[in-house]
Amino acid sequence: MKNIVILISGGGSNMAAIVRTAQQEAWAQRYGARVAAVISNKADAGGLAFAREQGIPTETLDHKQFASREAFDAELAALVDRYDPALVLLAGFMRILTPGFVARYAGRLINIHPSLLPAFTGLHTHQRAIDAGCKFAGVTVHQVTAELDVGPILDQAVVPVLPDDTADTLAARVLTQEHVIYPRAVRALLQTL
Ligand code: GAR
Repeated sequence: MKNIVILISGGGSNMAAIVRTAQQEAWAQRYGARVAAVISNKADAGGLAFAREQGIPTETLDHKQFASREAFDAELAALVDRYDPALVLLAGFMRILTPGFVARYAGRLINIHPSLLPAFTGLHTHQRAIDAGCKFAGVTVHQVTAELDVGPILDQAVVPVLPDDTADTLAARVLTQEHVIYPRAVRALLQTL
């Protein structure tokens, strides 16, 4: 089995989109792949309940319990490694990862970022796109490298920025596309593994 481990911090709607697509498209039979675990750095992450309902093992590792980023990442890696992952997917996992963690999963660590990279790395991407007068915004799935939100682009989707958009309305429009392209990018990767 090719195990997929998904890291979340919040609602987990991208994680849920991947889990649902894996079920609908029978990834287990087709690619020998399954979502083996969902891990959150927040115990109250909404996505954990969904994962449990689906019978997927969940884990919580509170970063505030660790003295340093390195110590948290070492424990996180130990947890992730228990599931022998072919792919590690960041899906709204709002932690900056250490170079050591990134190197450990080089080539199999994937992120979704709510902008058309290389524009708008970091936070508040939707407000920044509106403030810059962008007519289009979007989302990127990319391989994770040591530098934040930089790394080979695997897939993107574009949405219009409408005249009355707020960061929230634009985020909602982008999110619907996230749910399309993250499963699509993972499927494409599974076909190469
Ligand atoms: C998504 O919009 C994702 O692109 C973004 O967080 C949201 C998580 O939503 N990720 C980042 O901003 C990473 N820097 P979800 O928990 O419902 O999938």
